[in-house]
Amino acid sequence: MKKFYLTTPIYYVNDKPHIGHAYTTILADVVTRFHRKTNDDVLFLTGLDEHGQKVQQAADKRGVDPKVHCDDMAPRFLDLWEKLNIQYDDFIRTTESRHILVVQDLLQKVFDKGDIYEDEYEGLYSVSEERFITEKEADSGEFKDIKKLKEKNYFFKMSKYQEALIDHINQNSNFIQPEHRKNEVLGFLKKPLDDLCISRPKARLSWGIELPFDSNYVTYVWFDALINYVTAAGYSNEEKFNKYWPADYHLIGKDILTTHAVYWPTMLMSAGLPLPNGIFAHGWWLSGESKMSKSVGNVVDPLGLIKEYGVDPVRYYLMREMVLGNDASFTMESFIKRYNSDLANDFGNLLSRVTNLLTKFFDGKIPKCEDNSKEGLSIKNNGIELIKNVSTKIEKMKVNEAIEIILQFIRSVNKYLEIMAPWKLVKSDLDLAGKVLFTSAEALRVSSLLLSPIMPNRTLIILKTFCAEQSSLKWGELTPNKTIKNHDVLFPRIDIKKIKNENVLQKKNIQPDNVITYDQFKNIELKTAKIVSAEKVEGADKLLKIQVEINNEKRQIISGIAEHYSSEELINKIIIVVTNLKPAKIFGIESYGMLLAAKKGKDLTLITLDSEKVNTGMTIY
Ligand code: MSP
Repeated sequence: MKKFYLTTPIYYVNDKPHIGHAYTTILADVVTRFHRKTNDDVLFLTGLDEHGQKVQQAADKRGVDPKVHCDDMAPRFLDLWEKLNIQYDDFIRTTESRHILVVQDLLQKVFDKGDIYEDEYEGLYSVSEERFITEKEADSGEFKDIKKLKEKNYFFKMSKYQEALIDHINQNSNFIQPEHRKNEVLGFLKKPLDDLCISRPKARLSWGIELPFDSNYVTYVWFDALINYVTAAGYSNEEKFNKYWPADYHLIGKDILTTHAVYWPTMLMSAGLPLPNGIFAHGWWLSGESKMSKSVGNVVDPLGLIKEYGVDPVRYYLMREMVLGNDASFTMESFIKRYNSDLANDFGNLLSRVTNLLTKFFDGKIPKCEDNSKEGLSIKNNGIELIKNVSTKIEKMKVNEAIEIILQFIRSVNKYLEIMAPWKLVKSDLDLAGKVLFTSAEALRVSSLLLSPIMPNRTLIILKTFCAEQSSLKWGELTPNKTIKNHDVLFPRIDIKKIKNENVLQKKNIQPDNVITYDQFKNIELKTAKIVSAEKVEGADKLLKIQVEINNEKRQIISGIAEHYSSEELINKIIIVVTNLKPAKIFGIESYGMLLAAKKGKDLTLITLDSEKVNTGMTIY
């Protein structure tokens, strides 16, 4: 038995899983299902990346322990994998003790080898990226939350392995795929590599794995995360480890190419472990033409799609539409077009034609034997070829091309039916009509088996229809004389007009010219404040000079509400103030902020909060 070990990235536990995470995991599931079909001994690993600053911050914000926070978040991923029909063999979480022990063991090995040293480093640190960044990166404007930091840390001598890594990449053409990503990494390696800061002082960040050689530090989240791939391969169990390691493929998105193709192999070299056979970086799913982003609000939620259209069509679309290695654009229009043309028209149509004709003219029984006419043999030979070609495409990770050649075959069977016209033949040559339907049913059986790693549920229904769920992927396994089973329409057409109308309705509510991003909204600082005094501004009928208290600090605000409120009735009210508004002079008096009020026509009311329940200085968001 050949082993096949495939991994997905381990996802940050904080993120809500979206279509991008779903994509990598479905791709891994599809590829491993193909390998299981050829009886490979498969290990398919996925999991969660649970340490680091962002998790600690999120847990602090909720006022819970980081591990509790992770335990609360993990089910979101587990539920989605179940709904997406993902057959993983292992689900790793970096907070598990099996992993912590391996990380510490490897750190110690690399340390003992003399590849880790201590140094004081002063530089720019990006909180969001959780790493030191260069001046150039800081200037790019892509990094938020940049701090200047000076601290003692431990560094991994990554630079020592630069030449060995370049040689390895050049000698192993499949190590980084596709080709253009390999060239990207080689380009990056033209410049001298920096050493890698692999520690964080506990004083700043305690949520991580402690360094075995200095208990004042935890290790950098990436040094921890990458090691999950050897933990799950059985690093602490020699027999298992020798069997599964090195991984056949690390499947990743292009965003984490450097960590996988530079950090990880040099870490393994230092630890004296073999490098993975392949790192495959796929492109990004865009929402239409734009990057998916929580702040823009254009992230596609896979759960909604599954609920509406079923899991198999979603898996099919994602696998068919992305050319591996390039970016792909997700739109509802393209989803429906793809569904209607490939699944409803081509595949679904072939199925209903064959089953309807068998029911109508053959008592629902599979006829005796196949069609040996020129046309029938051509279908048979193409079917045999197809099985070989699909397997080659999958070996090369060309899943979208594999699907396309299966669909071409299905289209050719539809044409074959049109040419042979068994619905007419039944009148002149019932025997030949039966043979044509037998060959078509066999083509459907083979196509369903080939598509089963992509659409496991619906293809199983087709196989059951022809009593072929136990059959194997070889031409000629359809059993004659069995009675076919009935089923509902498998791929009903989706009415694109209906969807278009819904889209229009949704779009109406959001006018492009008044849309703001979440980041823009977040920039407005809103705080609760208590009014401590208010007096009329002399010479201005509408203005009040108001003093508010926010966290024991006083500030003065000039507000145009004198016609609606008297000074006395305002005292002690808890209101909401925009605190980061640029100070302005109104009627010659300084104003430091703005009160929130609701207004319609001549009516105005301040937005107030219950003074018994609310303190000043609370943030509104
Ligand atoms: N925790 C790290 C990975 C550590 S692996 C040792 C991480 N996690 S993540 O939650 O941000 O997931 C990143 C991965 O999710 C990408 O590499 C990619 O596989 C997938 N995707 C996330 N968004 C994506 C798209 N919009 N499109 C396609 N896949 C993307 O990075």
